[in-house]
Parts: sequence; C-alpha cells; structure tokens
Amino acid sequence: MSQRPDLLPALLVILNVALVVCAGVFFYLLFGDSVMESYRNQPQAMEQRAYRLGNGGGASGAEDSEKVVDGIHVQTGLAFAEGFDIVRGTCTACHSAKLVTQNRATREGWEEMIRWMQAKQGLWDLGTNEPIILNYLAAHYAPEEVGRRANLDVEAIEWYVLELE
Ligand code: HEC
Repeated sequence: MSQRPDLLPALLVILNVALVVCAGVFFYLLFGDSVMESYRNQPQAMEQRAYRLGNGGGASGAEDSEKVVDGIHVQTGLAFAEGFDIVRGTCTACHSAKLVTQNRATREGWEEMIRWMQAKQGLWDLGTNEPIILNYLAAHYAPEEVGRRANLDVEAIEWYVLELE
C-alpha cells in the first residue's frame, strides 16, 4: 500500500507525455501536409510563373505577346522569320525559348540536340516540321563566325625578345 502514492504522480507524468505526443501526431496528421506544402509551393509557384512568362499566353494580352521588334519576337526572343510559328509551337512546349536562343550550332548540331531530346527527354517525332525547324535553327542560330576573330593559336606564335637600344 505504501507504494501507491509514489506511483500515481509518475503515472500521471507518463500519461501527460503520451497525451502531448498524441496531440503532436494528431496535429501533424491534420495539418502537416498543408504546412509542408506551403513551403514547397512557393518555389514551384514561381517556377510555373516563369514558365508561363517564358512560353507565351501570359496575362500581358494578345497584342504584347505578338510584338516584333527588329526582327525579334519580343516575348520569346526568337527570330521572327520563316518557321517561327512552328518553332515556337514545338520548341517552347517543354522549356523556355531561351534554351534555343542561347545556343548556337550547325544544322548537324541542332539535329543532334533534337535527337538527344527525342531519346532522353520525350520529344516527339517532328515529322514534316523537322526540316522547317532545322532550316530555321541553322539560319538564325548558327555558330557565330562573322565579325569575331579566331582564337589565338598560342603554339603558332613566334615569340621574340624585345630588345631596346
Ligand atoms: C518534350 C519536351 C521538349 C521539347 C518539345 C523540346 N525540348 Fe529542348 N529540351 C528538353 C529538356 C527536358 C531539356 C533539358 C533541359 C535542361 O537541361 O534544363 C532540353 C534542352 C534543350 C536545349 C539545351 C541542350 C543543351 O545541350 O544544353 C536546347 C538547345 C533545346 N532543348 C532546344 C530545343 C528545340 C530547338 C526544340 C524544338 C525542336 C526543343 N528543344 C523542344 C525538352 C524538350
């Protein structure tokens, strides 16, 4: 009998701890998802916004989205020329047009990138659009050679000692 008064407070403490833990678990089950989501959603929402901005059809209105300045379609940054519609329709479906406009390659190089995307990234068969797209890319996003001096060939330089006097 003498043990009882000692045991009771201990039991109460254990019970309290169990209650707090249960409440915590309960709270997590109820609200945990939405709490985590609000953290996760922020960057996602921004990505989606960037995606929309990069891909057209944003809130800016149809007029803005079709503006062309100096031969460049403003919204996408793509050259506004033959094949533009097809390239915009095809090449901005998964990523921003920036990936296109920031790259330079020969026709073969572009073809390779398309094959790579078809093999690895789920790009579909482009069918009769492919030559149109390749012509466009090769014409407007070719390697820049004009107006840019060649890299120095260090090996070929004949060094000499400059002698004063
Ligand atoms: C089915 C989706 C899809 C479509 C459609 C698509 N791409 Fe891509 N593309 C990708 C993915 C995914 C990547 C890799 C993105 C990354 O690395 O962030 C990529 C990367 C690229 C790159 C960068 C390659 C590199 O070496 O870094 C270029 C250039 C490119 N795409 C051009 C195009 C062109 C041109 C078209 C239109 C013919 C096109 N893409 C259509 C999915 C696609």
